[in-house]
Amino acid sequence: MAMIRTRFASNLLPGLLLGLLLVVAPSCARDVRPASTPTPQLSAQTPPGNAVASAHALATEAGLQVMREGGNAFDAAIATSAVLSVVEPISSGLGGGGFFLLHDARTGRDVFIDARETAPASASSDNYLSADGGFDRDRAENGPWSAGIPGLPAAFVHIADTYGQLPLAQSLAPAIRIAEHGFPVYARFARGYQSRRAVMERYPGTRAVFLANGRAPEEGDLFRQPDLARTLRLLAEHGFDGFYRGDVADRLVAGVAAEGGRWQPEDLAGYRVVEREPIRLRYHGWDVVTAPPPSSGGIAIAQMLQILEPWDLPALEDAARTHLVVESMRRAFRDRTFYLGDPDFVQVPQRLLTSRDYAAGLRATINPAKATPSDLLSGDPTPLEDEETTHFSIVDAAGNRAAVTQTVNLLFGSGLVAPGTGVLLNNEMDDFALQPGVPNAFGVMGFDANAPRPGKRPLSSMTPTFLVSDDRVAVLGTPGGSRIITMVLLGILGYDAGLDAQAVAALPRYHHQWMPDTISAESDAFSPQTAAQLRALGHVVDLPGETAAGGRGSSHVWGNLQTVLWNRADGTLSGGSDPRNPVGEAKVEPAVDTGPAP
Ligand code: DON
Repeated sequence: MAMIRTRFASNLLPGLLLGLLLVVAPSCARDVRPASTPTPQLSAQTPPGNAVASAHALATEAGLQVMREGGNAFDAAIATSAVLSVVEPISSGLGGGGFFLLHDARTGRDVFIDARETAPASASSDNYLSADGGFDRDRAENGPWSAGIPGLPAAFVHIADTYGQLPLAQSLAPAIRIAEHGFPVYARFARGYQSRRAVMERYPGTRAVFLANGRAPEEGDLFRQPDLARTLRLLAEHGFDGFYRGDVADRLVAGVAAEGGRWQPEDLAGYRVVEREPIRLRYHGWDVVTAPPPSSGGIAIAQMLQILEPWDLPALEDAARTHLVVESMRRAFRDRTFYLGDPDFVQVPQRLLTSRDYAAGLRATINPAKATPSDLLSGDPTPLEDEETTHFSIVDAAGNRAAVTQTVNLLFGSGLVAPGTGVLLNNEMDDFALQPGVPNAFGVMGFDANAPRPGKRPLSSMTPTFLVSDDRVAVLGTPGGSRIITMVLLGILGYDAGLDAQAVAALPRYHHQWMPDTISAESDAFSPQTAAQLRALGHVVDLPGETAAGGRGSSHVWGNLQTVLWNRADGTLSGGSDPRNPVGEAKVEPAVDTGPAP
C-alpha cells in the first residue's frame, strides 16, 4: 500500500455528539469501500484521502460516510449540506439557498451552482413600506414577506443527477436519520433561539417544531424534526417534484398565505438552479476560482487582490499592511453598492470591475500615508450579528472538490415554519435593496441593480472559493454577512503567506465595507499599537467594547471558516475548522487502497 501521510486538524468531538453518532449512524464504523468502487489512483496528482470541514461534526461525518460508501465529493456535498440543514436551522436549511462551487477532477472543470433563493411573483419594494410610508424592517426580516423561494432542495437534485455517483436517497439518508431521531441541542442553537423566539413563536408551524417538548430548546435536549424527515424523504423519492410540486409545495404556499404572504404554486414549480462560470483570476501564482454574481464576493475578491498584488504584504508592518488591505476593501464595497445584482436581470460590469487596469486605477487612488474618507457617511454602525449561514469544504481522493456556503440569512431565517413541512423559511428578501440606499441587516446598501423584482435573486456576499497553485490546493469559505468577503480575502492572504489550514481558520479578522467608514475588528485583531497607528492614518477603528466611532463596538468574534488544504508537494491533506465554533470539525480520512488497479 502506498505510504499515505495525512495531517489531522480537528476540534475535539464532544463526547455527547460522539455518543449520538454511534447511536444514529452505526454504519460510520465501516471503513472499507464496496468492491465496485473504483480504486483511487494515489499519486501526487490525487489527494491521499477524503477531507471534510464543516460547522458541525455530524455533517462532517455524513460527508465522510457517503464517500466511504463509494460516493464522490459531490455526493458528500449533498450529505453534508442536508445534515447542516437539519442540525443548524439557525444557519441554513431546505427553506433557504446556497452556492456550490465544484471542481470535477475528471474533466478539470469548475462550475458554480447558483441555488440562491428567488423573489416570488408578488415581490415589490412596496411590500416593505409601513403605514407612514417608511421602511418596514419587520416585514423585511420576519415572517412571510421576508422569504424567497428556496433553492437548496433543487441543488441537491441537480447535483445528484449531474455530478454525483449515488442516488439521492443514499446521500440524504444521514440527514433523514438525524431529523427523525434527533441531535443534541448545542449552546449556539439554544442561545440563538432565545434571541429569535419572540418572532418564531408568532407562528403555529414554528411553535410545533421548536416547542415540541413544551418549552424552548435547551442545551443538551434531543431535537427531533419528524416533519422535516418526511419532507427530505419525499425529496429523496420524487426529486424536484417531491419539494416544488405536490404536497410539500402546497403546504409551503398555504403556510405563507396563512401568515398574510403571497406565494403561488408557479413560484415553486418554476424555481431553477443556474450553472454559472466562476470568477477566475491569478494572484501571486495562485489560480483563484470564486463566486460570480449574484454573489458580490468574487468580484470584490478580484478587485481587492488585484489592488493589493504589487505589495509584499507579509513584509510590511501590521498597521501599514492593514491600512492597504482596508483601502482595498473600502473600494470594492463601494462598487458592490452601485453595480452588483442578479446578472439575469441587470448588466453587471463584471469584465471592467475584475480587470487589472481597473484595479490599477483604484490602487493609484490609495495614499499609503492616509485613510481615504468614504465619501458619504451613513452614520449607521454595522449592526451586531451572531453567526448564521454556514460553509463547508470537501476534497475527495480523486481530486474532486466542493466549496459550499448556504444560508437562511439571519438567525433562523424568517422564523416561519410552514406547518407540516418542518421547513423553516429564509429571510433572504432583506438581501435585496428593498428601498434604495437603505442599509440592510448587514449595513450594506444598494440601488437599482439590486432592487427586488419577481424571479430575481438577491445580491449575496457568500464567497465559496478555491485557491490552486502548482503545489497547493485550498478550499475555503465562511458565513458572516458582508464580512464573508473580507474574511475570505484574509484567508487567501493567509494561505499566500504560507499559513496552514487551521491557522487560516483561526486568523483574527477585520473588516471595512465603505459605509460606514469604519474598520470593525475582532478584539484580538490589532495590538494597541497597531490600532493607534491606524487611527493616526485617519481610520476610525471600532474595537469590541470601545466606542471610538461614537458607535457600538463590533461583536467579539465573527465567522465560522471551514477549509481544506491539499499540499501536493508533500502529499498531505489537512482541514481547518474555525476555533470560534466548538461543534465544528475538520477531518481527514486516508483513502482505502484496495490493491493494485487491474
Ligand atoms: O447571502 C448573503 O450574503 C447573506 N444572506 C449571508 C448571511 C450570513 O452570512 C449571516 N451570517 N452571519
